Amino acid sequence: MAEAVAGVRACVFDAYGTLFDVNSAAARLAGEIGESWLKLAETWRAKQLQYTWLRSLMGAHADFEQVTGEALDFALAQSGIADADLRRRLMALYFTLDAYPEVPDMLRRLKAKGLKTAILSNGSPAMLDAAVKSAGIASSLDAVLSVEDAGIYKPHGSVYRLATAHFGVDPAAILFLSSNGWDAHGAAHFGFRVFWVNRFGQPPERLPGAPERVLSDLRTLPELVAG
Ligand code: LAC
Repeated sequence: MAEAVAGVRACVFDAYGTLFDVNSAAARLAGEIGESWLKLAETWRAKQLQYTWLRSLMGAHADFEQVTGEALDFALAQSGIADADLRRRLMALYFTLDAYPEVPDMLRRLKAKGLKTAILSNGSPAMLDAAVKSAGIASSLDAVLSVEDAGIYKPHGSVYRLATAHFGVDPAAILFLSSNGWDAHGAAHFGFRVFWVNRFGQPPERLPGAPERVLSDLRTLPELVAG
């Protein structure tokens, strides 16, 4: 068993892909979409992230609900699907994504150790509020922080600063958890302590900032951080 990290006041989580399974929306309608559902889900996610970075560079911020809808429009068009009702239902499912199975108990165990917990996400407040309620984890979170308060997307430093400002601590007192390699590097570059939750078995990103540990899921997190 790895030694527990000390000096952490708050565990701050990325939302999409880390706590919530982003492919679960298309998976629930797989029967209708057909065998290309996973390709559609992956294109939707890839475009969604690209649009956040591109809009940040363009100085043309729009909230994550708009960006997610525009990315879905691209993915549907690429798959040759023109179905306004399917689009509406896929978007609605994004508000009730499945949480990964270990998440509720893991958050309760962190709270029982006296640690603060929060989400720090690209999601809009409405999307995050709905997903947190639907997953039944609201009572285990001290804060749900959205990039809408920074007006720019991750990995801009002003997003990560929302968490240090909220808790009134130095970056090194925050342990950040993300399954998105680029987000893990961005957060480490900012100064957070970072565990990369490599759920998808990806090779390390070649970017500034380095996560200090790599986990395969969040099951063991409560044992890896001192209360
Ligand atoms: C988020 C994206 C990066 O939740 O997954 O911020």
